[in-house]
Amino acid sequence: MLAASRGWRHEGLTIGLVPTMGALHAGHMSLVERACRENSRVVVSIFVNPIQFGPNEDLARYPSSPERDLGLLQQAGVAAIYAPSAAVMYPPQAATRVRVSGVAETLEGAFRPGHFEGVATVVAKLLSAAEPDAAYFGQKDAQQVAVVKRLAQDLDTGVKIIVCRTVREPDGLALSSRNAYLGPDQRQSASCLSFALDRAARAYKAGDRDLKELRRGILEILGAEPLAKIEYLELVDPDTFSPPGTLAVMAVWIGNTRLIDNADLAQPFPG
Ligand code: PAJ
Repeated sequence: MLAASRGWRHEGLTIGLVPTMGALHAGHMSLVERACRENSRVVVSIFVNPIQFGPNEDLARYPSSPERDLGLLQQAGVAAIYAPSAAVMYPPQAATRVRVSGVAETLEGAFRPGHFEGVATVVAKLLSAAEPDAAYFGQKDAQQVAVVKRLAQDLDTGVKIIVCRTVREPDGLALSSRNAYLGPDQRQSASCLSFALDRAARAYKAGDRDLKELRRGILEILGAEPLAKIEYLELVDPDTFSPPGTLAVMAVWIGNTRLIDNADLAQPFPG
């Protein structure tokens, strides 16, 4: 990967990187398409990163569709797919981990111990391997964006972190590889996340600035959905991920499926 990237760099070409775990959907492809518009060469990495999954999480059943992914990426015109095996990414002698403190320690970081260390480590390795000018991430994973921005700065990478808006189903559900786990009833109830965010964004727009009240309104909508179990719901500052702030972030279980979503209530929703 590094040799290819350095070859392009030598030719004066610009390089965009889109890190993914595969099972590509329209959310991923929106990042790929933007990267293709903004760079002369685009690298998409496909790597289901074992170290960002907890011991009781869905690593073993994480969806995969390599042939379909390949077709989509070829059609989009990407220059390279970087898909190392876990043994290449983490050989037995590997001993380095990247840990971001502060923003990586709350919410997702607290409920999924080790998750952001896994993300930060693999993203740092992907940036080293591809040496891109810009790397593309989805706002869907808002806290991941904050963690990656922090690490890109702290490690002096010089890489521009480009954030792309969340792509949603017609009923508002944010596209996610994990939506494939949902049965028909669960799929229907999963729209409560975006519905609650939409309501709160409308209330904010109508002049409701009491963050506690706005939070209570979201809780009420989620609470009315019998299949939904809230793991966390906070209104945080988008850079620090600590309250107070207008970024509503949530993790909600629908059956055995954990969904996350977010919206900045001070911005138009879905935006
Ligand atoms: P993955 O879940 O495959 O997502 C890859 C990228 O696609 C992430 O930047 C994510 O935010 C973005 N994405 C996912 N769903 C989206 C949607 N509905 N709209 C817009 N963007 C969306 O996130 C990861 O993989 C991993 O943590 C990774 C960064 C690859 C590190 O292993």
